[in-house]
Amino acid sequence: MTMQNRSNGLRGAVVGYGFISERGHLPAWLSRAANRGDVSIVAVADSCPARREKARAVLPPGIRVYADHESLLAAEAGNLDFVDIAAPPNAHEEITHAALDRGLHVLCEKPIAVSTEAARRMLLHAKQARRVFMPCHNYKHAPVIQAVRKVLSSGAIGKVRLVTLETFRNTHAKGVTEWNRDWRRDHRVAGGGIAMDHGSHSFYLAFEWMASHPTSITAKMSTLQRNFAVAGHEVEDDFSCTLTFPEGTASARLTWNAGVRKVLYTIHGEHGAITVQDDDLEVAVMRAVDGEDVGKGAVEWSFEKRAVSSDWMDASHVTWFDAVIDQFKAAIARDEFVGHEARESFRCIQLIQTAYASSRDRSRELPLEDLTWLDAVDASGEAPASRRRVSERRVEAQFPERGAPR
Ligand SMILES: NC(=O)c1ccc[n+]([C@@H]2O[C@H](COP(=O)([O-])OP(=O)(O)OC[C@H]3O[C@@H](n4cnc5c(N)ncnc54)[C@H](O)[C@@H]3O)[C@@H](O)[C@H]2O)c1
Repeated sequence: MTMQNRSNGLRGAVVGYGFISERGHLPAWLSRAANRGDVSIVAVADSCPARREKARAVLPPGIRVYADHESLLAAEAGNLDFVDIAAPPNAHEEITHAALDRGLHVLCEKPIAVSTEAARRMLLHAKQARRVFMPCHNYKHAPVIQAVRKVLSSGAIGKVRLVTLETFRNTHAKGVTEWNRDWRRDHRVAGGGIAMDHGSHSFYLAFEWMASHPTSITAKMSTLQRNFAVAGHEVEDDFSCTLTFPEGTASARLTWNAGVRKVLYTIHGEHGAITVQDDDLEVAVMRAVDGEDVGKGAVEWSFEKRAVSSDWMDASHVTWFDAVIDQFKAAIARDEFVGHEARESFRCIQLIQTAYASSRDRSRELPLEDLTWLDAVDASGEAPASRRRVSERRVEAQFPERGAPR
């Protein structure tokens, strides 16, 4: 049964009832169900008994609670259209395959997987199963990021050549205390440190702002705080990298060792620059002036500053999730099984894994493989070369958030 012939819209289950599920996903799903009625959540699974107890205490009584995704799917798959995965990264792949095997669409938290190989298997499975796989790339929907999108689309700063993205955190994000509060410091669960945990957000924003995809990466990382380290399974808590794009460059720094919690993004175009510092947005636009002002290149700037309230301090980002639901629903309605967001989620994992390899190899610059393997396979297992080239060109060229290709 599909969304179109269900009277109450899409029916889903959430796997993982931890921080982001309790504070972000479930409140957003339930509020949408109450206000718009186009979605409903019928079940939740969590492997931790105390979290299941919490779910039973907090969630509306109609939502059934299971100990794992397998028992949930065995009992509920026939009632469902989708599974929303909010479990830790090392569980994402198995839950995705199980949901796709049952003919369900998948919404999956970042990082979608802990290795490029796993991410590749997940996307291929979605394509072959003809079910949507969509990552939660929620930073795209922060109000201040939407405001950046409008400035870029207006052409005010011209073509972007340079982007910097700094993410300062004073600690790793903590998981719920009932399960494993510090799993982000354990390679076996998280698949890496801050780059694996947060790098996706920086990278998909860079793709959009540069209106292209990188061709290589060089990276450096270190572990500055060893007190959380799990012997033999340490992860990086400080990470920096430079991405080479066809017509520009982007650099990112991510750290759990900062003295403040903040994002600081700068986007530099041929006619000006945009600076985002949490809610604060500054747009500087250049204007040529007469005379020889050698120091500034004979230009002057006009500055526009404003605050765009975006709830950065609320790590659940609950207010951004409704737009993720919109994207997920639209992809289902369009049969867009492995669309723009899914492809970007693969590129993010690929970048993170390649960055780790670069860092291990004295920051050597390493190339990035393109996604031709994905276009080479369709639901029947093959695609003619001509079709592959067309679809590759189309997806490469378009950044739907930005409107028409530039
Ligand atoms: N997009 C965002 O802004 C954002 C913010 C926070 C977390 N996240 C992501 O959400 C995911 C969960 O993070 P969190 O902070 O909520 O972690 P958490 O530790 O608070 O919650 C994880 C929950 O999953 C349960 N769990 C563990 N293994 C499971 C399994 N195999 N099956 C079912 N349940 C299982 C745990 O018992 C726990 O309740 C991670 O991928 C994380 O990166 C995304």
